[in-house]
Amino acid sequence: MGGPNALQSRDRLYEPVSRLMAWEDWERLYADDIEAILRLKQERNAVILAHNYQTPEIFHCVADIRGDSLALARDAQNLDADVIVMAGVHFMAETAKLMNPDKTVLIPDERAGCSLAESITAEDVRKMKERYPGVPVVTYVNSTADVKAETDVCCTSGNAKRVVESLNVPRVIMIPDEFLAQNIQNETGIEMLTWPGHCEVHERFTPQEIRQYRRMHPDVTVIAHPECPPEVVAEADYSGSTANMIDYVATQKPEKVLLVTECSMSDNLATLNPETEFVRPCNLCPHMKRITLAGIRRALENMETPVTIPSALEAPARAAVERMLAI
Ligand code: 13P
Ligand code: SF4
Repeated sequence: MGGPNALQSRDRLYEPVSRLMAWEDWERLYADDIEAILRLKQERNAVILAHNYQTPEIFHCVADIRGDSLALARDAQNLDADVIVMAGVHFMAETAKLMNPDKTVLIPDERAGCSLAESITAEDVRKMKERYPGVPVVTYVNSTADVKAETDVCCTSGNAKRVVESLNVPRVIMIPDEFLAQNIQNETGIEMLTWPGHCEVHERFTPQEIRQYRRMHPDVTVIAHPECPPEVVAEADYSGSTANMIDYVATQKPEKVLLVTECSMSDNLATLNPETEFVRPCNLCPHMKRITLAGIRRALENMETPVTIPSALEAPARAAVERMLAI
């Protein structure tokens, strides 16, 4: 794809398609892949889980379950399917596998990583625990299974405040997202011992940029993801996970909105909320964009690539996710 709205990602060209065509045109444009995926889903008894950052043709045309990281972890439980395809990044596929040890979980592109998950190792967590004995470890789900296995309880951006408050302690180790931890510390007053991991998409937003958008659009409602630096969240009218953003737009119906998050959110939401105007700052997640319709089709055709978790990590990593879901 190319054209005037094309944006150069790290390794491929991405075009926010909803700017260029009407909703029903997606199905025509991608008819071949979509038909094949729908047929393969039946043949394999497969479901497709899609994160809110997936492109509209995946999000709207082939996904069975869509959501933020919390919804994907929650809904991955008790699925009536033999195969789960994760249209998201690797840590999400690992979480789905933790919740479904007996099912085949496929990730269409193994290179779909995450700067947060890659920022920390299990050894780093062990060293933090030695340094702060007795302090509970809260780990963002954007982490690998071996890091989760060192964890007391996981959290997502949708439930971090609730998880941290449920511990009833004055301080917690909250890893690996430094900005999420700082934002939760600001909300709760609970001291956060953090790790210098950042989301490469959200760390790029600046307060100056938000103020500039407000000058250009004085009536705009600004919604920032809590992976943004605290100075950016301070400029926003509301902050929440991608699912919270979706709910906010659907219920508050702002006339004009600026979603300070990954590009595809505005593309997906613009279709669902035609009465709202979307101002579009656009930072791409190159990892999310590795997942394509063609890749999903290949994954289902060839049953690739199955996610595996070393057996020693399974029980402790699953327990950390289950504790989160129980809160
Ligand atoms: P949520 O969808 O949970 O808000 O997370 C955003 C994100 O960056 C996932 O990688
Ligand atoms: Fe990771 Fe950020 Fe991409 Fe989400 S948007 S997968 S947190 S790099």
